[in-house]
This record gives sequence, structure tokens and C-alpha cells, in this order.
Amino acid sequence: MASAPVLARAWARPSAHFLRPLSRTLASSRPISQGAQAAVANDASTQGPSFKFEDLNPHLVAAEYAVRGLLPQRAAQIAQELQQGATNYPFDEVIFANIGNPQALAQPPITFFRQVLSLMENENMLLDMANFPHVAALYPADVIARAKDYIRAGADIGAYSASQGVPLVREQVAGYLERRDGVPADPSDIFLTAGASEGISNLLGAIIANPSVGIMIPIPQYPLYSATITLCNGKPVKYYLDEEAGWTLNADELKRQLDEARAAGTDVRALCVINPGNPTGQVLTEDVMREVVQFCRRERLVLLADEVYQANTYQDHLPFHSFKKVVASMPDCRDTVELASFHSLSKGMIGECGRRGGFMELINFDPLVREQLLKRASINLCCNVAGQVMTGMMCEPPAVGEPSYDLYHHEMESLYTSLRRRALILADAFNDMDGIECGQPQGAMYLFPRIYLSDKAIAAAQERKLAPDTFYCLQLLERTGFCVVPGSGFDQYPGTFHFRCTFLPQEEKIASLVHSIQEFQRDWVEEYGLPSMA
Ligand SMILES: Cc1ncc(COP(=O)(O)O)c(C=O)c1O
Repeated sequence: MASAPVLARAWARPSAHFLRPLSRTLASSRPISQGAQAAVANDASTQGPSFKFEDLNPHLVAAEYAVRGLLPQRAAQIAQELQQGATNYPFDEVIFANIGNPQALAQPPITFFRQVLSLMENENMLLDMANFPHVAALYPADVIARAKDYIRAGADIGAYSASQGVPLVREQVAGYLERRDGVPADPSDIFLTAGASEGISNLLGAIIANPSVGIMIPIPQYPLYSATITLCNGKPVKYYLDEEAGWTLNADELKRQLDEARAAGTDVRALCVINPGNPTGQVLTEDVMREVVQFCRRERLVLLADEVYQANTYQDHLPFHSFKKVVASMPDCRDTVELASFHSLSKGMIGECGRRGGFMELINFDPLVREQLLKRASINLCCNVAGQVMTGMMCEPPAVGEPSYDLYHHEMESLYTSLRRRALILADAFNDMDGIECGQPQGAMYLFPRIYLSDKAIAAAQERKLAPDTFYCLQLLERTGFCVVPGSGFDQYPGTFHFRCTFLPQEEKIASLVHSIQEFQRDWVEEYGLPSMA
């Protein structure tokens, strides 16, 4: 029999090797009582972990999230090999253009935001400046004043806040919305959230009351939507964006898909719109948005407006319009259409993805529903307070004349103009390549080029048991180091192929990146040819 220390070690890391021989020994050496038999049976059933893959919630297993899927995993592997000195790749760096995570690609943070937060982190210096005279020398006066304002308002970054969010921050958000839309905003309609994701998933979770509930989502779509609907055991009701018309939204298509879903027994309750779009980057015109709002009124759908890219627009003739402003301009909708709009700290020029800040504004919602959404937020206590404070600064940045204004303005402007330049350079380059078509960048942080794949390329992908666009993207990665996401990760019109790439790589890297993609595409076309229609 095993000695006590051996047993202790074995239980510390239970293993089938240890348990199996033990139960067999017991079974063979002497007659056993009923109780002992039960213990043996229990032993057999407790081999290995008690919580196995097959015990998982099947909705979690079914949910897919391509942005962090196969391509980035392979890219991370290559990056690690390169770091360890591998020389078998025709590049020396992986460029991660698969995810809109600006600061991971060396985008600098906005100084004012970080200064205020650093003082809040070091509250003892801030509140005892007589003993810390360097604070006044290091930090501009408006930074010091702002940090004190937040602390006075109860935004203690080490403490839970109110579940709906710090009241001062919600006032700042409301002030921003009023300036943006020219219509009143009420802080009590605003919920501060951990990124836009938290607001979106909490609301979808509340709407999907049973498995027959359907949510209309754009295709291509940001996979947060399909994944969350799957997790909540609801039904995605897909509507296709119109690629030929710059990925805009078409009311006839909405109606067609809605009718089809309802005829099949789906109880369609909400419509999600992403504007500016991800992955497609389109910016909707006011006319199209009015049609969408009318559609929601007629069909009694809650409108979820994902507006996290509202600061990322690149064509002067296509400015961002908020759904709140559009709804408010429509007398027959302004008091009836239920609108939830989402914004985030992660995008724009701020790009503080890791801070997990954002907000949701609810318009025309039943107060009893709102109460339950507040309860939902309370179950998680609150979202992180540093993210809330930064959301306040996003909505109320330094004003003209304040000491930090010039630097803030310069940083925001130079990030914006650089992003726009990078978008145009990459789009022009794709548009010049045989077998790729991209259109002009309108908004967000992405290009979603269409790739024309020949039968030979599709057959080669099938041989490798890969989707055709996944095969293309893997080849692109292996030969250039450029990591993008296949269009199939966002869903796409059947028979069409795309990839999504961000235009976040550093500007000085863009020229050589373009060069290597051009070479890759030339080789690809030489090897696989193009379909006859391309
Ligand atoms: C359209 C869209 N909505 C929501 C999010 C979620 O962002 P976050 O939770 O960081 O605010 C993203 C992130 O990329 C996005 O692209």
C-alpha cells in the first residue's frame, strides 16, 4: 500500500494512472462489502476531472469568435518562433492586423487621460500636495483639478461604484450626447459598461427570453453578436449588407429576412446595426438610418445601435450621424422607438481597449425593463472605475483655453490624420492588385477586401479541409507575416470571399507591408489563377 506522503502527492495532482491500479487492487484482493463496492464504483466514476468537455454548456461550445481564432493562433506561434531566432520565414516580424486593438500596435495613449488616472492611482500625493511639491511641477493644473473633481465626486478607483456608474461621469456622458446630437440627454438613461461588449451582451441576454427569440444581425457582422446570441440560446436572423452599394443597409432586405424568420416561427424582437460598420467599415447616410428607424417602429423591434466607431470616419461626404439624433428628428418615432446605443473607450483615437470603458444609452425603454437591466448591472456590482473615469474624460476632454488643450488636440488630430492616411494607402494598394477589390474606406478601423478565388484555389483549400478564405489568409500569413481574419469568421454572402484587416499597423511599416502583399498576390495569381468573372 502506498505510504501517506505518496498518497498526498498523488491526490495533489490526481491522475488516472494512480487511481486505476488502486481500485483494481481493492477489487481483487478480498471480498468487499456493499459500502466498499459503492466506494469502488465512485472511485471509477471520479477518475480525471469531474467537469469535462462533454459537461460544458453546449451553447458555450457552439459559440464562435474568429477574431481570436485559427489565424491569430498561428500568427502568435510564428511570432514566438521568430523571437526565438527562427530564420525559416521570409519576414522577420508578424504584423497583427486581425484585431482593432490600437495600443497593441504601438499607438500612444492620450496624455491627459493617463495623467489624470496616474494622479488618481497616487491619491495620497494628490491630496497632500504640500508634502509632494513635485506634483504641481509635473502635472498641468487642469489635470490636477480634474483628478480632484473625480475623487470629490466619489470616483474612488479602488472601491465599487454605483452599479449604473459614477454619477459625475454619467453627467459628462449626457453633456457629450447633448453637444453631439443637439437634443437633451438624461444621465439616468446612461449605464456605464465594461467596454461596449458588456452593455451589448447584457441587453441581448435580457431580450432573449426563450429559444424562439430572434435578433436581426448584419452579415458580415462583428462576431460578438452571433456568439452572444448563441450563448443566450437565441436565434440570429441574418440580413445581408449590400456590398455593391458600399455595404449599406437595405430596407427591402430587412423586411424579406424578417418575414422569412417570422414565417418559420421565430419571434424577432430586435435589430442590431453597426455604424460605422465592423468588419465592413460603411458609414450610413441619414436617409438609410431613417428607413431603419421606420422599419423598427412598424415591426416593433428594439433598435441596438453599435456606434463604437463614431469618431472613425474618413470621407467628408459621409459624416457620422447618431441614431439618437435621427430618431429625435422623426415625430412619429421619437417617443416610441426603443433605442439602445453603445459607445466605447476602445476605438476612436483613444484606443484604450484594455481599460474596458464604455456606455449604453437607453431611449424609450419601459421603466420596468430598465429596472431589470440595472439589476443585471448590479449582479456584477459595477464596471471598473478607472474605465468609467476615462469614459468621462472621453466625453469631456480638456476645453479650449485649458492648459492641456493644445497637447490633447495635437495628439487626437495627428492620430486621426495618420489613421486616415494609412486607410487610404492600404485601400489604394488593394484596389490596384489583381484579384482583390476593396472600395474606399469610409469608417471604423478596417478594410474588408473581396478576394476572387479560382476553382483551383478552392480545391486546394478543400484538400486541406479549410474554408477557401482561411486557406488564402493562412498563405498570406505564412509568406508575408501579415495576420488578417478570413471573411468566413464574420459570415459573408455565400460564394463570396473576403478578409478583414485593420489599418492600425504603424505608418512607417505600411510601405514595406504593401510591397510584400503585392508580391504575395502576384505569386498567388500566378499559382492559382483567377476565376473567369474577376
Ligand atoms: C462593432 C463593435 N462593437 C463592440 C466592440 C466591443 O468593444 P469594447 O467592448 O472594447 O468596447 C467592438 C470591438 O472591436 C466592435 O468592433
